[in-house]
Amino acid sequence: MNNTTPLPLVIVSHQLPEAWLAKLHGRCRIITGPPTTVEAGLSADLRTLLPQADGLFSLLTVRVDEALLAQAPRLRVVSNMAVGVDNIDLAACSRHGIPVGHTPGVLTDGTADLTLALLLAVARQLPTAAADAQAGKWTTWLPTGWLGADLQGATLGIVGLGKIGQAVARRAQGFGLRLLYSGPHEKAEAADLGATYVPLETLLCESDFVSLHAPLTTETRHLINAQTLRLMRPSAILINMARGPLVDTAALVDALQNGVIAAAGLDVTDPEPLPPSHPLYSLPNCLVVPHIGSATQHTRRRMAELACENLLAGLEGRPLPHQAN
Ligand code: DGY
Repeated sequence: MNNTTPLPLVIVSHQLPEAWLAKLHGRCRIITGPPTTVEAGLSADLRTLLPQADGLFSLLTVRVDEALLAQAPRLRVVSNMAVGVDNIDLAACSRHGIPVGHTPGVLTDGTADLTLALLLAVARQLPTAAADAQAGKWTTWLPTGWLGADLQGATLGIVGLGKIGQAVARRAQGFGLRLLYSGPHEKAEAADLGATYVPLETLLCESDFVSLHAPLTTETRHLINAQTLRLMRPSAILINMARGPLVDTAALVDALQNGVIAAAGLDVTDPEPLPPSHPLYSLPNCLVVPHIGSATQHTRRRMAELACENLLAGLEGRPLPHQAN
């Protein structure tokens, strides 16, 4: 039999290693965009193909909104290679009957590992100590040099006890941290983790370290602002592994410059990327890394594979393994 039905057309917003997309081979026609370093959003070339696209595989730098959907009348699925979906207008996708896939679970451990790495790096002043050693300031063993904060016995406040927050809590138990958490409601898993549910204000007042793991929504935007920063201890360290806009950046700069809090470790920023001239980089008490929470070989490949599985399910009219809307 001569089957002339063409394979569905899928736009993959950016170049990715071929092996990561292997699941798509033979199941759809793929048109791939440029590397993210060339253009973070959807390129003009790919936009011209939207009218024919059946599926869209997006990175978190691609804004999927009503304007994009209006150009893509055939679109049957959007698959985001990220757990966060704040780059996507979920309500608009739902209005168009388009399921949106995302990648929870596979990045939980990688992101939780980096949370502890950032916390330890900031608490023990690793960037300053390393730079000082390299600059010849390691003249002798200094009894009072590069003194940091202990984790054992300190209190960690986790804002958002979802999958990643829980994985952070499990790691934190091993470091002897006392755990508080806040969020929209209590979590059954908290009891096993020894984490106590408290209002955000209490968490901020009582924590030595505050770690953000909530999604970006209208409720969480600028959750950490001039007012809430003032509730934190002058010795406190803020870690943001969630999304940059959870924190009011100007207020954070002011808080770090004026001793309102002691230090911050940021995997995500607002804006993102943070321009090299930004004041946060020049603060010795702030460590910024470029959104690398999930950046391990294994994790990023699994994210891409899961995004492929979501995409194929949407193209074939099956329920997505992980649907966000
Ligand atoms: C996500 O998946 O949302 C992370 O921010 C990137 O790994």
